[in-house]
Amino acid sequence: MTPSDVKATLSFSDGSPSMDLPLYKGSIGPDVIDIRKLYAQTGKFTYDPGFLSTASCNSTITYIDGDKGELLYRGYPIEQLAVNCDYLETCYLLLYGELPNESQKADFEDKVMHHTMVNEQMQFFLRGFRRDAHPMAVMTGLVGALSSFYHDSTDINNPEHREISAIRLIAKMPTLVAMAYKYTIGQPYIYPQNNLSYAGNFMRMMFATPCEDYKPNDVLVRAMDRIFTLHADHEQNASTSTVRLCGSSGTNPFAAIAAGVACLWGPAHGGANEACLNMLTDIQKQGGVARIGEFVSKVKDKNSGVKLMGFGHRVYKNYDPRAKLMRETCHEVLGELGLQNDPLFALAMELEKIALEDEYFVARKLYPNVDFYSGIVQRAIGIPVPLFTAIFALARTVGWIAQLNEMIGDPEYKIGRPRQLFVGATPRDVKPIAQR
Ligand code: CMC
Repeated sequence: MTPSDVKATLSFSDGSPSMDLPLYKGSIGPDVIDIRKLYAQTGKFTYDPGFLSTASCNSTITYIDGDKGELLYRGYPIEQLAVNCDYLETCYLLLYGELPNESQKADFEDKVMHHTMVNEQMQFFLRGFRRDAHPMAVMTGLVGALSSFYHDSTDINNPEHREISAIRLIAKMPTLVAMAYKYTIGQPYIYPQNNLSYAGNFMRMMFATPCEDYKPNDVLVRAMDRIFTLHADHEQNASTSTVRLCGSSGTNPFAAIAAGVACLWGPAHGGANEACLNMLTDIQKQGGVARIGEFVSKVKDKNSGVKLMGFGHRVYKNYDPRAKLMRETCHEVLGELGLQNDPLFALAMELEKIALEDEYFVARKLYPNVDFYSGIVQRAIGIPVPLFTAIFALARTVGWIAQLNEMIGDPEYKIGRPRQLFVGATPRDVKPIAQR
C-alpha cells in the first residue's frame, strides 16, 4: 500500500477533538482511508452494513471497475484471457501472479490432472444424502468432508500445505460436482480421465456412461472452459469474503472453501443463474415474449417482490464484461447444437433489449450480469438447472483459494472480527419466571 500525501480529517460537531486519518493509494481504483486506529483514538466505530464503502483487505489478484465494466485478473482484461488462455492457465495466473510459459503450463496441468481422483470413501459419504438433495447441499458437505481425508495439507501456516490443498481443491471439484450429479440420476460415477483437458474431463464425468464411448464436443468443451474462466474470481464478493473471514480463524482450507460454497448458494449471489433460468422458463410458460411487458411492470412494482434475475450488480454499474463474453458463447453453443431458434434465448434477448431501454433500469444502472446468459449456455450443454451453482462453485474455487492464500501470506492479517452498533435492551434484571 502506498501512503498518500493527502490526509482525511474527521471532525465532530460536539467539539470532540478531530482526527487525521491516513490515506493509501492502490495501483488503480479508489484510495482508502485507514480507520484502523479510529476506535482506539475516538472510542467510535464506523457503520457500513453490506460493506458499501469498506475495503476489507488489500489484494493483488482481481480488479473491477464497475463504472467502466472492466474486470482484470492480475492486470489482464478478462476479454483477453477468455480468448487467449484456457481455465488452467487462468488458475495458474490467479494462484501465482503470472501467466505460465509452456513448460510451467504443462507442469501445472500435469499436477492438477493427477489429483483429480477422490478417496473411494467419498462415495459412501455421498450415499448418506437423499437422491433429490440440492447439489449445493451436497457440495457444501463434500467439500467440508475433504478436510477429513487430507490431514497432510491442513496446516495453513505451511506454504507447501497451502499449495497442495489448492491443487487438490481445483483438481477434485469437477469430480465432486459430477459425482453429485450422477448420484442424483442414479448412474454410476465416471472416474476422471487425466489425458483429457480439465473441461473435457469434467464433461466426460458428467455425461459418459460405462456402456458407451464418449467423445467431448470441442465447441461445448470450449464453452465450459469459458464458463470456468469467467467465474474464476471476482475480488471481495460475498463468498470470497466468507472464505477470507472463515479462513482468518486459522481453519483448514477445505473448511474455508466449504463456507464459500454455502455462501455462493444464495439467489443474490451464485444462485442467480438458476433463478434466472427459472424466471425465463416461467415467462415462457406464461406466453413468452408477449408477456415481457407485464413481467417488467411487476419487476418495477416494489410491492411485488419480483426482481429481474441476471440483472444488476453491486459493483458493475455498466454492462458486466463477462455477460458480453457469455452472450457470444451462447451464440456459438446454440449454433453448434442447431438451437439458434431456442425460444428461451430469443426471450432473453428481447427481455434484455426492453430492460436496457426502460427508464427504471437505466436510472438505476441495472445491466445484465454474467448469469443472464450462463444458464442458457449450461442448459443447452445438457446441465440440469439445479447444478448451475455447483458449476459456479467449481470455477470459483481457484479464486477462493488464491484469495485465502493471499490473506494468510499477508503479515498484517488478523482474525476478522467486525463490531456492531448495539440497539437492543440496556442492562436489566432477570425476573423469576412467575413474574414474567
Ligand atoms: N431487478 C429489479 N430491481 C433491481 C434489481 C433487479 N435485478 N437489482 C437491483 N434493483 C433495484 C433495487 O430495487 C434498488 O431500487 P431502489 O433504489 O428503487 O430501491 C436499486 O435497483 C439498487 O439495488 P440494490 O439492491 O441497492 O443493489 P445491490 O447492490 O444491493 O444489489 C444485487 C445487487 C446483485 C444483489 C441485485 O442487483 C440483485 O438482486 N440482482 C438479481 C440477482 C442477480 O442477478 N445476482 C447475480 C449477481 S452476478 C453473479 C455474482 O457475482 O454473484
